[in-house]
Amino acid sequence: MRTVGDIRGLRAVVQAWKKEGLRVGFVPTMGNLHAGHFSLIELARRYADRVVASVFVNPTQFGPNEDYTRYPRSLAEDSVGLVEHGCDVLFAPTVEVMYPFGPEHALRIHVPDVGDTLEGAHRPGHFDGVATVVAKLFAMVEPDVAVFGQKDCQQLLVVRRLVRELALSLEIVTGPIVREPDGLAMSSRNRYLDAHQRTRAPELHATLQWMHDSFVEGHALHAVEGAALRRLQRAGFEPDYMVVRRAADLGIPAPDERTGLLALGAARLGHTRLIDNLAFD
Ligand code: PAF
Repeated sequence: MRTVGDIRGLRAVVQAWKKEGLRVGFVPTMGNLHAGHFSLIELARRYADRVVASVFVNPTQFGPNEDYTRYPRSLAEDSVGLVEHGCDVLFAPTVEVMYPFGPEHALRIHVPDVGDTLEGAHRPGHFDGVATVVAKLFAMVEPDVAVFGQKDCQQLLVVRRLVRELALSLEIVTGPIVREPDGLAMSSRNRYLDAHQRTRAPELHATLQWMHDSFVEGHALHAVEGAALRRLQRAGFEPDYMVVRRAADLGIPAPDERTGLLALGAARLGHTRLIDNLAFD
């Protein structure tokens, strides 16, 4: 695996592949890689001849009081894992490479509607940062296919909208959520949890599962959502939202809508904010 930090070096490799007629897959990450990320690398391999992964902790998607400075950075270990899972190029740019005018003066892409609700409402500006950096990475890597995890399902919808509106010529593929044996969705932020919080953390997934079961039993959605919030509060979480939405656009379902739905939740456990979701299929 080659590691490159500059755009010219990255383009030289990718263009050489393209001249050979090879299909290029791309997995953008913020590093501190775990089995969830590696499953995306393996998925990219199934859709492409060569795989590029990026590791870049993107400052513009963090709010002023969020964890940008303490976000775990582990490039050496990430490289080892990427080699083991068949990545061909690691693109690890600096902030200066990604934001030549500085992050505060960078252009911003705002994805309305699907980017404004839920995570967008609780983390103002977050999806502007995500859409902006993903558009920049797509312009640099020029992949044929890019792979994103279902764990950040709203991010995935934001990226799909970005690709459609900018008429980008690439395919977006989704990888399923990878969970710990107790149900906790894998996330780089799980390492912030202390031992006691870690034992409680699977309750977020368990509550989403309970929302699904209650919905199948025929309970009204608003009652299920309210009960889910209370259930998590009793378990020691501070939930931001526990909702059932349309999977296609995160719109609020009509009372008689029974298909194409998804439960989404975000909740704080101590200082750690966890998100998760579960499709009602
Ligand atoms: O999902 C992530 O890790 C990030 O939001 C992404 C897509 C790499 C953009 O910084």
